Amino acid sequence: MCGIVGCILKDKDAAPILLECVKKLEYRGYDSVGIATSSRGLSIKKDQGKIDEVDEKLQITDLPGLKGIAHVRWATHGLPTRENAHPHTDCKNRIAVVHNGIIENYKELRSKLEEEGHRFTSNTDTEVIPHLIEKYTDNGVGLEEAIRQAIQQIKGSYALAVISTLEPDKVIGVRKESPLIVGVGEDEYFIASDVPAILQHTNQVLYLDDNEMVILEDTGVTIKNLDNEVLIKEMHTIEWSPDMAEKQGFEHFMLKEIHEQSVAVKNTLMEESEIKETVKKFRHFQRICFVACGTSFHASLVGKYLFETLLGTPTEVVLASEFEYSSNSLDENTLVILITQSGETADTLKALKIANKKSQTLAIVNVVGSTATRDAQHVIYTRAGPEIGVAATKTYITQLTSIYLLATCMTENEELNQQLKKIPEYIKTILEMEDHIREIARRYTNTSNAFFFIGRGFSYPTALEGALKLKEITYIHGEGYAAGELKHGPLALIDDDVPVVAIAPPGKSHDKTVSNIEEVKARGAQIIALGSREDDVLKSEAHDYIEFTDEINEIMSPITYVVPLQLLAYYISIERGIDPDKPKNLAKCVTVE
Ligand code: AGP
Repeated sequence: MCGIVGCILKDKDAAPILLECVKKLEYRGYDSVGIATSSRGLSIKKDQGKIDEVDEKLQITDLPGLKGIAHVRWATHGLPTRENAHPHTDCKNRIAVVHNGIIENYKELRSKLEEEGHRFTSNTDTEVIPHLIEKYTDNGVGLEEAIRQAIQQIKGSYALAVISTLEPDKVIGVRKESPLIVGVGEDEYFIASDVPAILQHTNQVLYLDDNEMVILEDTGVTIKNLDNEVLIKEMHTIEWSPDMAEKQGFEHFMLKEIHEQSVAVKNTLMEESEIKETVKKFRHFQRICFVACGTSFHASLVGKYLFETLLGTPTEVVLASEFEYSSNSLDENTLVILITQSGETADTLKALKIANKKSQTLAIVNVVGSTATRDAQHVIYTRAGPEIGVAATKTYITQLTSIYLLATCMTENEELNQQLKKIPEYIKTILEMEDHIREIARRYTNTSNAFFFIGRGFSYPTALEGALKLKEITYIHGEGYAAGELKHGPLALIDDDVPVVAIAPPGKSHDKTVSNIEEVKARGAQIIALGSREDDVLKSEAHDYIEFTDEINEIMSPITYVVPLQLLAYYISIERGIDPDKPKNLAKCVTVE
């Protein structure tokens, strides 16, 4: 996820305004920033680093021209470096492009363009775009047509903003599956990834649909389809405050990020071919050891159940902070998989150092260029985009997606692979239950005792994650327990003030979990059950029921059943007047041991 902006102003230099606009998109990414403006030629300043740091270093706003484009980057292809920062240009420095999205076929396009003599200077997928546009303008077509021809070569998602000395009066935007909006001010015009970028300047907005192009000129805005036909769009007046707009109208980043999970999974699934390449590089191993903290530890636990079920490889899971005390049995036959969304968690980095000395290491990470990605021998990226809320939501779901993809690539399990592809749609359907979950949350807001979250097998990590979300953002104690273990002690705590959230998808563990529900119900517990729509037995045991399609079996349940638990914690937090984005005593990234 990156942020792009373009503008044409009437009588002000574009660069300072562009910088102010991309600052409002910093929540979409923050590892590099760049601006290109056009006056007599193209002027570009860009570098790796946070916006303010780069501005201080380069005086990035010191560029001439009333027109320009800007970018704030969240690295996907290529490390955060100056070379990889946008804007990217063609060979002759006449075309500058900023891009948000992923070009899936960039490797093929790049080698073809290189064969044709184009010179590349970055490792990004984006750089193929200015070179493609260059190729077509060299063939004699105008800029708009060259962009149209270029995007016909591209597979993937994109929102682009383009300026060129060939047609210096225009700023052109085009989109497919990545957001792009048009802001219409008084004699000044904008394009941006999102409304907050332009809200200081105008609240009049046109929304572009996929495969539409917008041309900004001094005289106004023209929107066209890819057949070059002019389209008439409805103007919208934005009523959001700038703060609301940054969260796309959601009250909190956490809720926005919960809603982004379907897209985040879809983007992560696009990593399949990269994962296949990575798997080929593994040396032979006889055992697997997952290492992580917090939510990433719960993803690891799912990994253990999955790898032991599918691969039959002995797999253990170790908390990163405990790793140094239990790592003596590591050897060259062990594959150590470290999971960390930030790639900067001190406990996990320490464990990685130890593991690197004895074993093969693979890191599953969300932040490109973070320390874990540099230190690990192999890396797989999750594509959640930046996560601002302290409570991990979309990064957890994408960690699970990467683990499942890894397992399918290792086993060539086509059936599981097909099931994985359905997850984004399932998540969308689950999110339709939001009002129902909010109602449930209201009923349990004043729980003075602890909640229990129970599940067996693949649902045990989901129970742990549900309990962690509750603790973090509601300050109510949540105890995640293997359902079969209750009778060995905690059953003594159950009474009618204890809600029990039971996770019981269809599968091997279902019937025994139902028996455990009967045990706690007999002691007065209120049951919130999660299970299949068809499961009348489970429904009859529950006071509140959250239902899923019965296509989601036990093995696939971790990536989907956790979504209502995130919403449950979120809405209890709201009812209790807590800011879920900033829970007390916690930090997004824990860089101390
Ligand atoms: C969970 O909501 C937390 N934010 C926390 O447990 C987190 O998962 C843990 O600190 C590990 O972080 P990492 O994935 O960045 O290494």
